[in-house]
Amino acid sequence: MTTLGILGAGDVARALAGGWIAAGHTVVIGSRRPERGDWPEEVRVAGLAEAAEAGEVVVNATPGRDSVGILAPLRRHLAGKVLIDVANAVELGPDGFATALVHPATSLAETIQAALPETRVVKTLNTMGPASVMADPARLSTNPAVFVSGDDAAAKATVTELLSDLGWRPEWVLDLGDLTTARVPEAFVLMVRPLFGALGPVPFGLAVAR
Ligand SMILES: NC(=O)c1ccc[n+]([C@@H]2O[C@H](COP(=O)([O-])OP(=O)(O)OC[C@H]3O[C@@H](n4cnc5c(N)ncnc54)[C@H](OP(=O)(O)O)[C@@H]3O)[C@@H](O)[C@H]2O)c1
Repeated sequence: MTTLGILGAGDVARALAGGWIAAGHTVVIGSRRPERGDWPEEVRVAGLAEAAEAGEVVVNATPGRDSVGILAPLRRHLAGKVLIDVANAVELGPDGFATALVHPATSLAETIQAALPETRVVKTLNTMGPASVMADPARLSTNPAVFVSGDDAAAKATVTELLSDLGWRPEWVLDLGDLTTARVPEAFVLMVRPLFGALGPVPFGLAVAR
């Protein structure tokens, strides 16, 4: 079993913590205000540095716009670890939906990797919503896909196992290749607003017909 540090204490952290605890893992949430709150009893809530230190694998579940600034000071704590980046770095419009990418010529995942050269960054889980879908993909009426991008094969294997613990079947996991491939799933966030317009506020993920 793995100890996971989850940086950020929002809906994504809550969904992933619930899924991984149910699978038998230990979770430490990293928050700027590490009060107990209404987290499940099994969850430890700590400061960001403490959660980064505690996690054997660490998740970036912070607002993508701020992620590099949040993670860069944690470089020492994250050295040698797998960092699962689920964040979307976007400019938000007045309706709260993404209107533009913050890193249009590259990706958030690559920018984080450049800031944390001793950490193995893997991008995944950023193409679905709401966050509860991340830990309950079988609720969707079509078998969904989850994309994985990263430069380190062993890190991607670790992440694929952790995805399996959240309910992602092996055939739903698509390894796109190195971390530069994160640019494409990251750009998908621009489609969320029009999708909401077309479908309304329904849980969604991507599926690849083949
Ligand atoms: N929600 C979804 O459906 C979904 C789907 C795919 C991807 N994502 C991505 O996943 C990430 C997390 O999303 P989310 O919906 O859980 O919540 P969020 O509102 O983006 O923020 C998550 C948490 O990050 C912490 N935080 C906020 N600003 C911070 C800062 N400047 N420095 C340090 N910590 C800060 C806050 O926790 P504390 O106040 O406790 O520190 C907050 O609760 C985002 O990048 C989002 O784009 C979300």
